Amino acid sequence: MENISFKDILYVSDGKTRRADIVVENGYIARITDKEEVTSSGLTASSPEECLLLPGIIDEHVHSREPGLTHKGDLDSETHAAAAGGVTTIMDMPNVVPQTTNLETLAERFELGAAHAFVNYTFYFGATNSNAHLLPQLDPTQIPAVKLFMGSSTGGMLVDRGEALRAVFEQSPLPIMTHCEDTDIITANMRQAVAAYGEDPDVRHHPEIRSREACIKSSELAVRLARETGARLHIAHVTTAEELALAAEASPLHPAQITLEACVPHLLFCDEDYERLGTRIKCNPAVKSRTDREALRRALTDGRILTIATDHAPHLPSEKQGGCKRAASGMPMVQFSLVAMMELVEQGILSRERLVQLMCHNPATLFGIRQRGFIREGMHADLVLLRRQPWTLTDDQIVSRCGWSPLEGQTFSWKVEQTYCNGRLIYNKGIFAEGNEHARQLRFDR
Ligand code: DOR
Ligand code: ZN
Repeated sequence: MENISFKDILYVSDGKTRRADIVVENGYIARITDKEEVTSSGLTASSPEECLLLPGIIDEHVHSREPGLTHKGDLDSETHAAAAGGVTTIMDMPNVVPQTTNLETLAERFELGAAHAFVNYTFYFGATNSNAHLLPQLDPTQIPAVKLFMGSSTGGMLVDRGEALRAVFEQSPLPIMTHCEDTDIITANMRQAVAAYGEDPDVRHHPEIRSREACIKSSELAVRLARETGARLHIAHVTTAEELALAAEASPLHPAQITLEACVPHLLFCDEDYERLGTRIKCNPAVKSRTDREALRRALTDGRILTIATDHAPHLPSEKQGGCKRAASGMPMVQFSLVAMMELVEQGILSRERLVQLMCHNPATLFGIRQRGFIREGMHADLVLLRRQPWTLTDDQIVSRCGWSPLEGQTFSWKVEQTYCNGRLIYNKGIFAEGNEHARQLRFDR
């Protein structure tokens, strides 16, 4: 593998932006020669050559759709989209067909990963009403966590029996990542909405049906079960101001026992956007109020939210037709999460050092990903080079198989210029490298 050196590059890692020479050898960051630390205010839009080197993004919440749902996307298409967005690692969800809920389907997915993933990869194991006995057999050096749907969503993996739910918390040797929405509340809300608005209510009613109360009640239950059993809980895609209080309140002595993920759709959009974007922004849990979004954004900087992921969940345009009942939930995001979050940096909502913490360092630390997520000597050389160069998203730039994005028409200040995975330049100004031998299965230190 050829060696690479970056001369006088500005890089962001470990809470700092520094100018340095960085040498990559044999897939690893071999040497960093720091020259000076640069404050954010020292950089302005007037320097046209301005580039930033970041650790490759680790997206801990992706639905690549392979196997079984590959008309929406597959490992090859969605990891190419990831690479084009500066994402060098995806952690893939189990609601595929067949579901990743036994050891055989789990092993098959790792074979698919090796054959098709273009960036580093791993797969969650999915909990069901009847598979808690398998959890102690999962290899903690290979599997990041158990995904638990405490509310029904795409893929029908709901764990809704009280004793089954408790068994997952009791049996799992791994962190439990939950989707929290109370199904009884949602069902009752849907019945009311159908009575009021007709069989397939307009998507504007989605956050009334998949309501704040449904999220809060389910997240509270997850926290209670984690406290009672001592399980390590990571709540995926929190969407309400109330849920933000849960982590710290729930476990003041062990704040790291219960952690929260925010997803890009809920940080970008609010209920005012249903008018303009319709079912494009329909996802579960629903995009909620502006007040909730502002609370989520504030929580990015004060430690209440630990990670930012995408919940990249592609569906075909034809599947997004209809209203609250008929339109599929979920949107593609992995290709544009970094540049979209860099816009929040431009707006002063978070610092770029904090962005790197939330999208690179913290996912690596939370799951114990070995030697990734930081720009440090000895780490795998997973890197993304950003250039300040305003550009507007048009559909011909979309790499995801579904071919659309809720961000079409939006202008971004930063462009992903190059992506490196294990020291190999895999994406360079719109051109992908051939093959996928560079992509690795993640290993975990626990
Ligand atoms: O909006 C969503 N889409 N939420 C989920 O929980 C699943 C996902 C999907 O797989 O489409
Ligand atoms: Zn998801």
